[in-house]
Amino acid sequence: MKVGFYNIQGGTGKTTIAANFAYILSQSVKTILIDCDLYGGTISLVFGLEDIDHNLNTYLAGNSAIEDIIYNYEDLAIIPTGVTSDVFGYKTDIEKFIKLVEVLAEEYDVIVYDFPPNIPEGSLLLAYGSEENLVNKVIVVGEDSIPSIVNSLKTIDLLKDFGIGLTGILINKYRGLTDLSEISDDIIGVLSYDPNVERQWSESMPITKIKTKFSKELINITHDIANIYLEKDLASLRALKVVKTLSGITTEEELRKNEEL
Ligand SMILES: Nc1ncnc2c1ncn2[C@@H]1O[C@H](COP(=O)(O)OP(=O)(O)O)[C@@H](O)[C@H]1O
Ligand SMILES: [Mg+2]
Repeated sequence: MKVGFYNIQGGTGKTTIAANFAYILSQSVKTILIDCDLYGGTISLVFGLEDIDHNLNTYLAGNSAIEDIIYNYEDLAIIPTGVTSDVFGYKTDIEKFIKLVEVLAEEYDVIVYDFPPNIPEGSLLLAYGSEENLVNKVIVVGEDSIPSIVNSLKTIDLLKDFGIGLTGILINKYRGLTDLSEISDDIIGVLSYDPNVERQWSESMPITKIKTKFSKELINITHDIANIYLEKDLASLRALKVVKTLSGITTEEELRKNEEL
């Protein structure tokens, strides 16, 4: 399964959700997280990878080997982007990106993309995605506000034009401000506003590592999505077993217990 988080709007929680979705899945299936936000990427901040020399920017410029840009956080593999203004100086070879994904797809059960907002890079990767099988599903992350819902619906239309597989809108930072009933058909899940989420940046850890309201909700949603889409995409017996195991699990603690058995 190759799944990406996207919205033409920034700040909705794409990075937060992509990082944690990947972290949760990595506890059961071989998962790699790719920060595709080449100029504004922040995945490295979630996992304490700010001081590294090799990243997706240096790889796409031809300055790094694949094995040098893959980092590990527990069982999760991560390809981050740079966090300094150096990122503006690298050229981006899209063919190299396509080859990279081909190689990774051989080794990982799940590839999770954190896409940048706006059209240029986001749509470039997504546009190629439909042709090159780079992306199977895109989840649109929207906020609990009317402008954000308008942008989320716009994003859905854009993705449909590209012929990209869609799952729907994941409403994030929900505080009961907007009436979601009119767009309920497009919504696949709702995540609460939770001030604890901010701790992931200062403590350099995915927030789902600790118990919070947001963590509990995202763990449930991640498992639901995995149950629906992984089963279809993973043919191996091992994967099917994992999916079956996941169906009965609701908390990270239970997941751990399950792994120990
Ligand atoms: N559910 C949430 N509750 C509270 N704050 C959140 C939540 N989700 C994300 N945030 C915060 O919103 C900001 C933007 O999140 P981020 O994941 O960087 O969005 P994006 O990648 O879409 O730009 C960050 O400061 C993050 O900590
Ligand atoms: Mg982001």
